[in-house]
Amino acid sequence: MSRSSTDRSSWTRRAGFILAAVGSAVGLGNVWRFPFQAGQEGGAVFVLLYLWFVLLIGVPAMLVEFTVGRLTGRSPVGALAEFGGGAWRYLGGLFILIGFLILSYYSVVAGWVLRYVVGSVTGGYAGRSESYFLDIATGFDALVFHAIFMALTVAIVALGVRRGIELAVTVMVPAVAFVVLALVVYAWTLPDAGAAYEYYLSPDFSLLASDWRSIVPAAAGQAFFSLSVGMGVMITFASYLDEERNLLVDTGIIVAIDTAVAFLTGLFVFPILFTAGVGPADPGPGAIFVALAGAFADIPAGSVVGVVFFGMFAIAALSSAISIMEVVVSFAIDEFGAVRRRTAAVTGVAMFLLGTPVALLSSQRQPILVTLYDALAAQILLVSGGIVLMILVAWIGADRAMAELRRGMHSPGVLPQVWIWLVRIPVIVVLLVTLALAVGDYWSFLSGDFADFLGL
Ligand code: TRP
Repeated sequence: MSRSSTDRSSWTRRAGFILAAVGSAVGLGNVWRFPFQAGQEGGAVFVLLYLWFVLLIGVPAMLVEFTVGRLTGRSPVGALAEFGGGAWRYLGGLFILIGFLILSYYSVVAGWVLRYVVGSVTGGYAGRSESYFLDIATGFDALVFHAIFMALTVAIVALGVRRGIELAVTVMVPAVAFVVLALVVYAWTLPDAGAAYEYYLSPDFSLLASDWRSIVPAAAGQAFFSLSVGMGVMITFASYLDEERNLLVDTGIIVAIDTAVAFLTGLFVFPILFTAGVGPADPGPGAIFVALAGAFADIPAGSVVGVVFFGMFAIAALSSAISIMEVVVSFAIDEFGAVRRRTAAVTGVAMFLLGTPVALLSSQRQPILVTLYDALAAQILLVSGGIVLMILVAWIGADRAMAELRRGMHSPGVLPQVWIWLVRIPVIVVLLVTLALAVGDYWSFLSGDFADFLGL
């Protein structure tokens, strides 16, 4: 029954699943969000905490999602209803809402990336990298490129998992890896690389003492966001999975690649920012754009490098965006027997409209609504989704989850037992603390910067 819908399909090749999961994980979260958060939250201290959260909560959360997805063979709403019983379907409903929220502003930021591909061709940002960002970040241009990116996402999702997602990702992932490595080598030759490495790699623990209330939730939110966990993407992907894969090994591969891309991105972004004389925290959500545009304007053949980099960046964002939309679309297919193409189109229009204020409104030309949407989604909603999922799997459905994990890890031994106890207490406690801090942090944003913006 659970795999009956005609529009459902399985991965064509063994690597299809890994590629799609990596394609989902690697995206704006690594290249845009990670350096921007690291710059804002104190550099190396944030990086260290983020790495720690990836291991402590990211890995278990991903395993939880894989387990539920493969066990039920269904997309999040149906999967949770089957796994936990009736009322759990509302958690799946929450996932769908989170997906709408995330993709609505993700597409705006990805639209900036597309705009920079064009800007690299026309030389638009040469010599004015900071004001260029402010010019294009909000307003009519931002809206147009938001629309273009959303349309691309709809087109790929409409083609279906096998043809669309797998094909797209097979090309994207190696391209991303190659360009990132090349940029790391380039940045290493820059004059201020030393100071940048110092900021990025040697932690100043006094910052942790003074600012832990915002650093801790930011690092946890980044871990969830970057790994695409907390809203059922990995449940959906694992629902297409057959019985042979080793879930633990696959989780290790996906987490390692995602974390490596983020880490390497920091390794080139900060040297470029420092050399350009832009403080790491100054440009906020524009950090990566200002840094790279400045650098590309400087170096020989910079416009070619710019096209390649922003092009690859757009591709990485696209493979993440399709994973988010796939959750919504596969939900409609599984639960209502909807038609894939039409559902993708309707979803895209709704998400576009939700993102429209983000693309249009600004405060001192900064795109302030990005923070409003992004902090709510990553630090509060994804973390909440993760907590509830972990309670379901580690407490309520532990026996079934453990049986699936034994099969899924190909390990009859104690590993699943250790894992479930790790999730049951330490992981859930840490996440609850993080969530409380995130809510406090968000409240200060609402009553501070955001109230100013509203003129309160
Ligand atoms: N992880 C992606 C990135 O780093 C974004 C993403 C895709 C995502 N699917 C997700 C984030 C699901 C949260 C939940 O850009």
